[in-house]
Amino acid sequence: SYFPAKDKGPDRSLGILKDGYNFARKRLQKQHLDVYETKLLGERAALLGGEKGAELFYDNDKMKRGGAMPAFILKTLFGENGIQTMDGNPFEHRKRLFLSLMTPEALDRLFQITAEYWERASEFWEKKRKVVLYNEMLTLLMKISCEWAGVPLKDKEVKKRADDFALMIDGFGSIGPKHLQSRKARQRSEQWFENLILDVREGKLEAQEGTAIFEMAMHRDLNGNHLDARMAAIELLNIVRPTVAVSKFITFGALAMEEFPEEKEKVAASEDYLYYFAQEVRRFYPFVPYLPARTKKEFAWQGYNFSEGQLVLIDVYGNNHDPRIWEEPETFNPERFRNWNGGLFDLIPQGGGDYEKNHRCPGEWSTLEILKASFQYMARHLDYKLPKQDLSYSLNKMPALPKDGFIMKSIKKK
Ligand code: HEM
Repeated sequence: SYFPAKDKGPDRSLGILKDGYNFARKRLQKQHLDVYETKLLGERAALLGGEKGAELFYDNDKMKRGGAMPAFILKTLFGENGIQTMDGNPFEHRKRLFLSLMTPEALDRLFQITAEYWERASEFWEKKRKVVLYNEMLTLLMKISCEWAGVPLKDKEVKKRADDFALMIDGFGSIGPKHLQSRKARQRSEQWFENLILDVREGKLEAQEGTAIFEMAMHRDLNGNHLDARMAAIELLNIVRPTVAVSKFITFGALAMEEFPEEKEKVAASEDYLYYFAQEVRRFYPFVPYLPARTKKEFAWQGYNFSEGQLVLIDVYGNNHDPRIWEEPETFNPERFRNWNGGLFDLIPQGGGDYEKNHRCPGEWSTLEILKASFQYMARHLDYKLPKQDLSYSLNKMPALPKDGFIMKSIKKK
């Protein structure tokens, strides 16, 4: 007989901070479950996992995004009232705007820009005793991302802007002063982009059709109006900020080439393998832990009774490591993607489901271009040694990253 599995007793908000990426897995996967009830932020929350759980999470008849994301995340990481919180027709209209930026030409251009910046950066690194890859990537991707999006960025402002982006990306979950810094970083960044949006509209800043800055400035909503300048700025940030965050996957990919030395040669040798490797980095390493939604109505599923407006979390990291989906999930094995069927609910590091109807990340293609350009450059053209350092990362700490950020020395171009 089936009975709904749940945590009895106190709120588990502290538990999710302590167990991090393992919080939901520990509850769902041990018992081969797709749904498990717990208490978070003072609410009865349903954890969803497995392909079936992901499919339910992306069922628009049952789930919505409005009111799901906690305010402390919207005020730092995402921005208020942006696409992440939208539903229905206005959502689908806004989503087409994001998807329209991802043409094959735009993606090729991103690959080229990324490769060029790696080339320039490594010339600079050759002259340095050592560099921290994660930190270097934050500034490099800031430049790459702004160039791709059509955002002007002066050399002398790169560091200041990149520091703000790092605060938005990493500071959102923290408590106390760092959280406040993260909020201020968002406010500064929104103001910066708002001014640029107005400049584009007033013809003071030239922008190319098809770039993010142009399309955000010129987009019209379903009523035929331009987006409010602050809203357009928030959506432009929704392109540039996550592009900078690809620095995490690059750092983890560098770690993979170190932990599994045979990988580097394979990555250098084959473009197919390069793609499998990038996919396996996205699957294997921890990045986004969970995503929230709310139920639209009351319904029963797998013997569990969902109430209307209930908080629901999909176990993103857990699905990428679910033994029901992946053979030997704890083994780093890019080959698994050679015959992958491209399921909508299995590989979900950037969300799942349908790009147009669901909130699945429209930046998956651009992420892959940046990763391919970066890993190919590292594997083919960069010699380096690693000084003594702590390469470990913890699944209990969200967001995760190798402790010392991947320090490299004796860098030589080849
Ligand atoms: C949405 C992850 C890179 C733009 C998302 C979601 C996740 C995600 C988990 C939410 C999916 C959902 O709610 O169902 C990531 C990760 C990235 C990445 C881990 C690697 C750094 C990018 C890039 C871009 C981007 C490079 C832009 C070029 C967006 C946007 C949304 C989104 C605009 C909101 C989509 C919507 O609400 O419909 N991403 N993303 N992301 N991502 Fe990414």
